[in-house]
Amino acid sequence: MTTDYKRYMVTAALPYANGPKHVGHLAGAYLPADVYVRYLRQQGKNVIFVSGSDEHGTAIPNQALKENTTPQTIIDKYHVLIRDCLAKLGVSFDIYHRTSEPIHHQTSQEIFLTLYKKGLLTEETSEQYFDEEANAFLADRYIIGTCPKCGHTNAYGDQCEKCGSTLSPKELINPRSTLSGKPPVLKPTKHWYLPLQQYEPWLKEWILESHKNDWKPNVYGQCKSWIDAGLQPRAMTRDLDWGIKVPLPHTEGKVLYVWFDAPIGYISATRALFKELSEGKKEFATPRSAFSNPQVDDWKPYWQHTDTKLVHFIGKDNIVFHCLIFPIMLHASGEYIVPANVPANEFMNLEGDKMSTSRGWSIEMHEYLEDFPTKPDELRYTLLTNLPETKDSEFTWKDFQAKNNNELVAIFGNFVNRALVLTQKHFENRVPVADTWQEVDRKVIDELKLFPERIAESIKAYRFREATAYLIDLARLGNKYLTETEPWKLAKTDLPRVGAVLNLALQIAANLSIVAEPFLPFTSKKLSEVLNFSSKNWSDAGNPSLLKANHQLGEAKLLFEKMEDEVIENQLKKLNDKKKGMELAATPAEPAKPEVSFDEFSKMDIRIAKILKAERVEKSKKLLKLQVDTGMDVRTVMSGIAEYFTPEEMIGKQVTILVNLAPRKIMGVESQGMILMASDKDGKLRMLQPSEAVAQGSKVS
Ligand code: 2FM
Ligand code: ZN
Repeated sequence: MTTDYKRYMVTAALPYANGPKHVGHLAGAYLPADVYVRYLRQQGKNVIFVSGSDEHGTAIPNQALKENTTPQTIIDKYHVLIRDCLAKLGVSFDIYHRTSEPIHHQTSQEIFLTLYKKGLLTEETSEQYFDEEANAFLADRYIIGTCPKCGHTNAYGDQCEKCGSTLSPKELINPRSTLSGKPPVLKPTKHWYLPLQQYEPWLKEWILESHKNDWKPNVYGQCKSWIDAGLQPRAMTRDLDWGIKVPLPHTEGKVLYVWFDAPIGYISATRALFKELSEGKKEFATPRSAFSNPQVDDWKPYWQHTDTKLVHFIGKDNIVFHCLIFPIMLHASGEYIVPANVPANEFMNLEGDKMSTSRGWSIEMHEYLEDFPTKPDELRYTLLTNLPETKDSEFTWKDFQAKNNNELVAIFGNFVNRALVLTQKHFENRVPVADTWQEVDRKVIDELKLFPERIAESIKAYRFREATAYLIDLARLGNKYLTETEPWKLAKTDLPRVGAVLNLALQIAANLSIVAEPFLPFTSKKLSEVLNFSSKNWSDAGNPSLLKANHQLGEAKLLFEKMEDEVIENQLKKLNDKKKGMELAATPAEPAKPEVSFDEFSKMDIRIAKILKAERVEKSKKLLKLQVDTGMDVRTVMSGIAEYFTPEEMIGKQVTILVNLAPRKIMGVESQGMILMASDKDGKLRMLQPSEAVAQGSKVS
């Protein structure tokens, strides 16, 4: 196996452009990939980092049905939303492409034809589910039913989102069409299959033998159980009107399977990147020597030369596609390399429950950015310290607050701030001279030298949590050094010693600005500005003399801000409200009561009245005693609204009242009418009020 790679091709899963993506997605694939790539760039490696929108498959037209719009509108909307969120969170793709682009259709069709012409695809007619009402075959997510593995009643035809099992439509119990809601029928149709079973010997050698020790156990284990269970032929085409046309004659209404085209999206993104570079339409933000004169075909070595290290960053639900099916496609085509590693992550839960956009139990990237537009690194840091690398992990808002306040503010920010403020105060904001080192300084220098390698080793081994812990340990080293040496106490007696201590503290800060870049790119930039020092070379790190004596520092700024309890409580409330809102939206309204005639209806006299007085009723939790001005009289109404409204908030309000309801005695008081309220699906009451104030006694009809 080649270990000295000439170039790196790094991919992060193409998210479906069928809705916003949450911070669990960010933690699963994009953030670890970004740390890895930023580190490689700092190492001066020749690396390309691609992702983009997955715009095919039934997920897209399904969402269009829900939003009552077209698939094109859906992908245009969510492509931009997801792309912009990832950019604002600092995920530094070289290109964020789209599978709807012509170059992608062309690349996918080329690869399909290569396999077809080599005779590697088998043609088979089989029975597939068909919706007679919608007159359409029901591929993958057009069909839902009960999961045979966990009993979840809304599992898709290709996957159960509850237990993560990969399914085929015929495995579903009680299948129904998402188009008509009706049970489907079976009908014959022709498709092209990739005979995965023929590649078992190759997979055994390539994964089970060669990657036993360097692939993560969760990834290796999943591959092994698939291979051990025996692979089946898998259809690479679908009956659908949304997707990439099958490039064969007489195949109207047939498209490539989304999991055939989506991973090819990585290749077409790289192709598109070099096309744009060669046409001068795009430039790298930082000039890189490897791309001094890019040509349109320069994408090829990244996908076709064995001295390229190909790494796919994904979530665990994508393992089978990236470790078995896509590599078989690449290998079978005879032209492409296969991944060196697929460091897939498990899932990140939220506040004790599975993260889910559809259930409203999620923090969507755009929601976070709306509430914390200036804090991308604070989220990056919390996620990095909690990455689901070996097992499912957990995001909690309390932990977010603790990580921010106790680590970013109290350790990283506090250390840098103390060093800068003292330098400003005693040395006119210039790096002081360090004449001699004492024992304590030498120890700190020795420690400092170890950090870059320590962090790098963890990144190279895809242990990003550990790498992040080492990063904060470096800030901790600086903080501890200042606490031990107490330079603020020595200013009057030994200014040269103060200078030496601050010199070393500032060197640690400069080192932090380099090694923090992959993890906290925005903070690293800010720190570079306050130090008036910038290096993007990892090889500079570990050096205790990055800043020369007398170097002029920039303007001091706080790197992080304390997060108050109130901010966190608001987020928790927002999360619970969102979930409740989704549940209510998903609960069907009660069916209508039996019909009434107009005459029956017109017997009811409904008016607008004003509440003059309101008081609680002794021994009753539910009742308020109201004095109401109906425009005809002032009367007493006993109303069961006390659990939802206080007497104070009712006074002065206009409400809707049924005035000719026969009087009734309630808790010994005669109630003369009934206040009408809207009762939400959860039973919560809301007042029915005119949109503008009207005269008391106005009729409601
Ligand atoms: O699971 C998903 O969201 C898929 N859209 C991932 C595709 S990754 C790659 F193959 F494109
Ligand atoms: Zn299931």
